[in-house]
This record gives sequence, structure tokens and C-alpha cells, in this order.
Amino acid sequence: MQIFGVDIGGSGIKGAPVDLDKGDLAQERCKVLTPHPATPDGVADGVKQVIDHFGWTGPVGLTFPGVVTGGATVRTAANVDKSWVDTDARTLFSDRLGGLPVTVVNDADAAGVAEMQFGAGQGRRGTVILLTFGTGIGSAVFMDGALVPNTELGHLELGGHDAETRASSKAKEDHDLSWERWAGRVQKYLAHVEMLFSPELFIIGGGVSRKADKFLHLIDGVRAEIVPAQLQNNAGIVGAAMRAAHDHAG
Ligand code: BGC
Repeated sequence: MQIFGVDIGGSGIKGAPVDLDKGDLAQERCKVLTPHPATPDGVADGVKQVIDHFGWTGPVGLTFPGVVTGGATVRTAANVDKSWVDTDARTLFSDRLGGLPVTVVNDADAAGVAEMQFGAGQGRRGTVILLTFGTGIGSAVFMDGALVPNTELGHLELGGHDAETRASSKAKEDHDLSWERWAGRVQKYLAHVEMLFSPELFIIGGGVSRKADKFLHLIDGVRAEIVPAQLQNNAGIVGAAMRAAHDHAG
């Protein structure tokens, strides 16, 4: 079965039909630039462009970089336009897409769902935490494979700061940190999350997971196993489609 997945990120809106049996894109994805400011209307126009590129008429799953409740309502917008807060994103996108069935899900939760089914978390029981390091830090917490949605561990306070402002990959760029210094911050952050949750496994996602060889070996002092995500760029798209299939495909 195929369902359409869209990943809404700070720089691009990317989407493709997803083959849910394989956990992979069924066609090459289409990307349009995220408008700035990334207002609900502007983003909805971008999403429509991506869907129209494929002439898609079935269910659509979309990620959003903030808390999303009930597959529909945006509750926080740390790194996107604040006008998203309390927007019924399901209705917004569905209306813009001519009434297609829509599910909206937190971006890290989507990536986590995909990694648990098709990637680094396959078959893993107990507490597993996927963390995405990008513009912010996203989190997806699983217990025996079941997601606890909207955990927002990127906003834990660390040394008096919102953790994502210190340890995201944007923080690495903004503060021009070497891999060593940044890994030191990531290590402190992981140790803090471990103190709270004692997970068996951390999965490190986001763009930086492609460069795992540059920093994972620099992290010690964390008991849990730490592995890079496997689906990398497409985890959000695949996970969003999986959630939409769950809600709309019976
Ligand atoms: C948001 C999360 C999101 C993460 C990654 C954070 O700032 O609060 O909801 O998952 O960034 O995009």
C-alpha cells in the first residue's frame, strides 16, 4: 500500500508517496523551499505544490516541528512562525488539498516511528529514545515499541539553558563549535536524558546522523547503547505516511 508523506522542515518541504511494506519512498521525492516567514498559509501552499507534483489523491501524513495533538492541532512552534500555535493544521491542509484525509504528527515522533519499524530500532524492546539534532532537538520515546507522543526533550533545561540552544546542530554552526566541543555538549545532554529515563538505546537522527563517524566515538560516560538512525533524510516522510495509514487506511 502507498500513502503520501510530507516532511515540513525549516528549510524545505519534502514529500513523496511511500511504500509502506518496504518503508521507503515509492518515487523520487519532490522538495520546495519553506517560505519565510513560515506561516500556516505559506506552508500550506508549499505542501499543495508538492502534492500536485504527483497528482496525489489519497491520504496524506505530514510532519510538523512542534507539539501536535490528536493528529491535528499544533500547540507549540519553537522554530517556526508563532501564528501556528493552536492552528488546526489538519483542517488547514485538508482544505488546501481539496478535502484529502490528513494526519499531522510531530517531526521527531514521525522519524522515530519509521526507525522503530524499518531502521535502527527494529525489534528493540524496553525504553528506546530517538533524538534528532537539527535546527532544534526533537525526541521520540518508545516503550516496547509504543510511542509516547510529544515528549519535547529538546527543551530540557541544561546548565540554565534550553538544551537545544546548546546542543542542536544549529548550535554547533551558530557557535562555530568543533566536533569535539559539540560532542561534549551532546554527551552532557544524553547523560541528563539517561538520568531521567534510563533507556536501553539512543538513536541519533537528524541531518547530523549522516556524519555519525565524526562524533559518536567522542561520546562516553553514557550507559545506553548509542546508534545512528538508518533512514536518515526520509525517516520523517516515511513515519508521517505510517501515521496517516494508521488513521485513514483502516
Ligand atoms: C520542537 C520539537 C521538534 C524539534 C525538532 C523543537 O524545537 O519543539 O517539537 O520536534 O524542535 O524539529
